Amino acid sequence: MKTILVAGGAGYIGSHMVALLKERGIHTVVADNLRTGHWQAVKGGAKLYVGDLRDAAFLDRIFTENDIDGVINFAAFSLVGESVTDPLKYYGNNVAGSQSMLTAMKDHGVKRIVFSSTAATYGEPEKQPIEETDRTEPTNPYGATKLAIEGMLKWCDRAYGIQYVALRYFNAAGANTDAGIGEDHNPESHLIPLVLKTALGQRDHIGIFGDDYPTADGTCIRDYIHVRDLVEAHLLALEYLEKGGESGVFNLGSGDGYSVKEIIDTARKVTGKEIPAVVEPRRAGDPSVLIASNHKAAEVLGWKPQRGLEQIISDAWAWHSSHPNGYEG
Ligand code: UFG
Repeated sequence: MKTILVAGGAGYIGSHMVALLKERGIHTVVADNLRTGHWQAVKGGAKLYVGDLRDAAFLDRIFTENDIDGVINFAAFSLVGESVTDPLKYYGNNVAGSQSMLTAMKDHGVKRIVFSSTAATYGEPEKQPIEETDRTEPTNPYGATKLAIEGMLKWCDRAYGIQYVALRYFNAAGANTDAGIGEDHNPESHLIPLVLKTALGQRDHIGIFGDDYPTADGTCIRDYIHVRDLVEAHLLALEYLEKGGESGVFNLGSGDGYSVKEIIDTARKVTGKEIPAVVEPRRAGDPSVLIASNHKAAEVLGWKPQRGLEQIISDAWAWHSSHPNGYEG
């Protein structure tokens, strides 16, 4: 039976991938070390192997016990700030984990991988919207590790014929309430969950990190994309590779930008809560505007995001209000 291996499948985006694969009847196995993932997030009876990608024997066992047809690799540390203070933790986990996965794929003759990359590979953008061919100059080690892995994928394709799609995510948000999964990071640093935790009364206000950026309302603009749209793109990417598509890099974003103030206002509307907000100093390293061009993913993969900002926030709200302590209840 055709089986897809989802590494990092107990994490936020990975668990949404597993739920979608199960929904489509695709046999799925998950590898996760549960350092940041949650076993409760692995739905639909997918087999969960608990271990680290850097453990060659662990991967060898998964590839031996299953007829793996393709890999989707979400496994990574992803805190930008932490990556600046502890870069070796990020190179060690992200780059070495992917290297180990590619080695196992080579040894077991698995020829297709879809990889989670990031808009952080661009660093401070040259122009908006950002295209895949734009300059990549990461401003933090997190983005640098993802760009290094993109390079490793390119060379592994040439040397071993492992074909890949690297997907550069913009700001993933939202939840899959039908599957009972959503965002549960500890610590949480992302805007939308923090705004909604404020709506729940778990925080007394949301800090707005700077209101003196060169944008209409002075706050940073980001491109928010529903996690469900995001994982649908991975499925299209796998199908594209199965049909013999060429390896490549694609942006995954909506193509629309919203400011921090617009996010808070939309959350007030969706939740009916006041959500106190306080302007605070800028956060180091935040570019003022990040908006994706998603034309390449539309043309080549046939991907078209279906869910707008209100749905992103209302789905996230349904998750946070029904799971105020995340997977702990
Ligand atoms: N923000 C606030 N207050 C908060 C949290 C965030 O004002 O309490 C602002 C940030 O300054 C930023 C925007 O809200 O302008 C979004 O911040 P997030 O932390 O939610 O997301 P980022 O855009 O910083 O990061 C996202 C991904 C990263 C990825 C990066 C690529 O979460 O993994 O995009 O640039 F690296």
